[in-house]
Amino acid sequence: MAAKVAVLGYGTVGSGVVKILWENNSHVSRRAGEAVEVKYVLDLRDFPGDPVEKVLVHDFDTIVNDPEISVIAEAMGGLEPAYTFAKKALEKGISFCTSNKVLVEAKGAELISIAKEHDANFFFEASVGGGIPVIRPIIQSLTADHFDEISGILNGTTNYMLTKMDKEGLDFDYVLKDAQEKGYAERNPEADIEGHDAGRKIAILASLVYEKQVDFEAIPMEGITKIGSEDFAYAKAVGCAIKLLGTARRKDGKIYTLVAPFLVPSDDPLYAVEGVYNAIKLHGDMLGNVMFYGQGAGKEATASAVVSDIVQEIRERGRHVEILWSGEKQALEDAGEYPFRYLVRLSGAVSADALGAFGDVETVTAEGISGETAFLTAAMTEAELAEAIAKSGAECIKKIRMN
Ligand code: HSE
Repeated sequence: MAAKVAVLGYGTVGSGVVKILWENNSHVSRRAGEAVEVKYVLDLRDFPGDPVEKVLVHDFDTIVNDPEISVIAEAMGGLEPAYTFAKKALEKGISFCTSNKVLVEAKGAELISIAKEHDANFFFEASVGGGIPVIRPIIQSLTADHFDEISGILNGTTNYMLTKMDKEGLDFDYVLKDAQEKGYAERNPEADIEGHDAGRKIAILASLVYEKQVDFEAIPMEGITKIGSEDFAYAKAVGCAIKLLGTARRKDGKIYTLVAPFLVPSDDPLYAVEGVYNAIKLHGDMLGNVMFYGQGAGKEATASAVVSDIVQEIRERGRHVEILWSGEKQALEDAGEYPFRYLVRLSGAVSADALGAFGDVETVTAEGISGETAFLTAAMTEAELAEAIAKSGAECIKKIRMN
């Protein structure tokens, strides 16, 4: 007997899933404990000459009405029809694995609960961090701790871009095009560069860590479009890299979430995460820091995480794996009230007196940049920062938080 699998969507990730299930079939089957067979691939398109033609179907009902299908892997992206398909499958007791973060962020809590009612599973390892195993470790390994922070480099495209801009002095548009050609970027690259993709991923992680729904829409998001060569020069001068971070933190019992570019000091393990690599760092009350690192985007890496879900489902067959994520909304505090240090660039010369309003500052100079005053502030809230900037009377060229 073989475990019969269907794959929805034959795009970048879906074709990667099929490739792994075919090329590594005996290995995957051994790990699953039984032979794994791709019975169907669903796509609206035809693929003349591609071996997928043998298993290609255009109608989801063929899949969901086939009693032989035990697991469906979805890599179509977008909320619909993925949500309808997931619901239909789970209501029939067919487990559903997905790389689709839009689906997971919006409907994760509901789909987990439907899966539970039907002794099935809704797995989504590939929805965050591409190929990095992070969801399963949070659910199954990190069960002893309360987590006061989960922060990560969650978008491969922007990390690839920031690394290239920093190391090679290349410009924004060029590196974006390069990342798109390499298959890292979302269909709409705004989702990457404006921080929305990282926002969805931190929403999913925070929902898992805090066990209640953290809505993506409730997370303040700043992208990387305003980061330029001068910012890298200042960052370097203070021994930092610039990284787009998604973060969720608990302080005095309140939860703060944010996506923004941050200065990351060299003693932070996130500093060394370069290129398309992602990393997710958690801080537990017992464990201390733990970090997961790996390739955050790309066909095979992401597909490898989807296949790991398929294997787990086949191993678990008929047993629901508990995932604590309720639909109740997690209360979130205004991220502006979380005190961060900032790199601030003000136009012109600024008096020592005006600088005093930013607390204990560390002034920064960078070769070739003149006509401005740059410094690192003490930890302050956004309101305190705005007040100190207004008091200085200078124009604020840039402010970037420091991790
Ligand atoms: N566009 C995403 C990224 C793909 O660059 O990380 C993986 O979710």
